[in-house]
Amino acid sequence: MLKLEGKDELAKYNEAEEVSTVIENITARKLFNSRGEETLEIDISTVSGFGRASAPAGASRGKAEVISYPKGKVDLARRQVEELVAPELIGRNANEQEEIDLLLHEIDGTEDFRNLGGNTAYAVSLAVAEAAATSYGMPLFQHLAGYFADELPCPLGNVLGGGKHAGGKTPDIQEFLVLPINAESFSDAASANVLVHQRIGSLLRRKDASFTGGRGEEGAWAPNIKSEQALQIVAKACDEVSEELSVECRIGLDIAASTLWKQEEELYVYDREGIKRNSGEQLDFLLSLIWNHNLIYVEDPFHENDFESFAELADKARGCLISGDDLFATSKKRLTRGIEISAGNAIIIKTNQVGTLTDAWEATELARKASYVPIMSHRSGETTDTHLAHLSVALHCPIIKTGVMGGTRVAKINELIRIEEILGDRTKMAVLSL
Ligand code: PGA
Ligand code: ZN
Repeated sequence: MLKLEGKDELAKYNEAEEVSTVIENITARKLFNSRGEETLEIDISTVSGFGRASAPAGASRGKAEVISYPKGKVDLARRQVEELVAPELIGRNANEQEEIDLLLHEIDGTEDFRNLGGNTAYAVSLAVAEAAATSYGMPLFQHLAGYFADELPCPLGNVLGGGKHAGGKTPDIQEFLVLPINAESFSDAASANVLVHQRIGSLLRRKDASFTGGRGEEGAWAPNIKSEQALQIVAKACDEVSEELSVECRIGLDIAASTLWKQEEELYVYDREGIKRNSGEQLDFLLSLIWNHNLIYVEDPFHENDFESFAELADKARGCLISGDDLFATSKKRLTRGIEISAGNAIIIKTNQVGTLTDAWEATELARKASYVPIMSHRSGETTDTHLAHLSVALHCPIIKTGVMGGTRVAKINELIRIEEILGDRTKMAVLSL
C-alpha cells in the first residue's frame, strides 16, 4: 500500500489501485479428471486479474444435456478456444458475464453446444467469472452475488453406492446419501458427513470381513450388498452420528433410474438384485423406501422422460424432496415443462449440463420462483477445481451435492469452510423448507 502524502501521492495511489477487467490473454490446456479422462482447463488473464477453470464429466449423463466435447474431443476443443474463442474475447470486459456467455452461444451456433462443446463453454464461462472476481480482489461468490450472499448450503454427501459409479455386486441404486439438516455451521455439517462415512465403513467391515474397503467414483463405499441392507447400514450410521453430534442426519437416494430403465421391456431392471419393476411397482417401491426410512431426498426416481411419475411421487411423498437430475438436465425448457405439472420439487444444477454460468443461473432462478429447491452438484468425474463451492453460495442453493471423501470432493468442502471463515459472524446456514 502506498503511503499517502499530499495530492500527488493520492493521484498515484488511485492510479495504482485502478482495476481493469479487460481480457488480455486466454490459454487452453488438456489435463485429467478424477477418472483419468482428458478434460479442458482454461486460463484467462485480465489487466488486473486471473481466472482458471477446468470442466468435470458425468458417467450417468442425461440425454438432454449439451454435448460435452465436439467430435475431435479435447484436442479440437483446445484448438477452437485458441482460434475461435480467444480472438472474440480478448479486449472484452470479464465482468460482462451475460454478454460473454451469449457470445459463446453465438460462436457455437447450435442448441446443444455440439460445435464448441458444453465443457468448453463451461470452462471459459467460469474462468471469465473468476478473472473478473480476482481483478476486483474479491472471492468469486461475492463478485457474482454481492455482499449479502451470506448463506451456506447443507452438504448432501454420497456415502455408499453402486450403479454406474461402481461395478461388480454393488447395489443397483447409484447413491445412498446423507444430509445434515440442522447443523449450526457448515464445518459442523461437513464433520457429520465425514463421521457417517467413517461409521458406515466400520459397519461394513463388521458385517463382512472380506470387504476390501473399495470405493466408487465419488468416494462412496462400494460394497457387495443389496439395497435394503445398504439402507439399514446407512440408517444405523446416521442415527448414531445424529445422537453423538446432536445434528439431524437424514438419508437420501439417487436412483439414477434412467440407467435402470429398459425401454424395450418398459421396466426398471435391477440387474444385480435380479428384480424388474414396471412404473407402478417402481412408485410403490420408492414410497415404501421413503416411508420406512424417513427419506428426505430422492433423485431421479424415474427415467428421464417420465415427468408424470415424478409428479405423482412428489404428490404422495410429502416432506421428501423429489429431485430431477437427468429429468431436467439444468435446462429451463425442461424445468418449465416440469413446473407445469409439479413434476418433483427440486432440481439438480450441473452447470456443464447447459454450458454457461448464465444458463445455470437462469435455471436456478426459475426453480426458486416456482418453489423448487435448487441443488448445486458436482459430476462423478471431477477435477480439484473449487468453483462449485462459490457457485452454491452465489446461486443461493440451500444444498450442495459434492461427495464426502476423495481429493476432488474434499476440495469443494474445504473451499466452503474457507468461505465460512470469510463470512465470519455474518454466516447463516440454509434452512430447508420441506
Ligand atoms: P454423473 O451423475 O455421473 O453423470 O455425474 C451423477 C449423478 O447422477 O448425480
Ligand atoms: Zn443424479
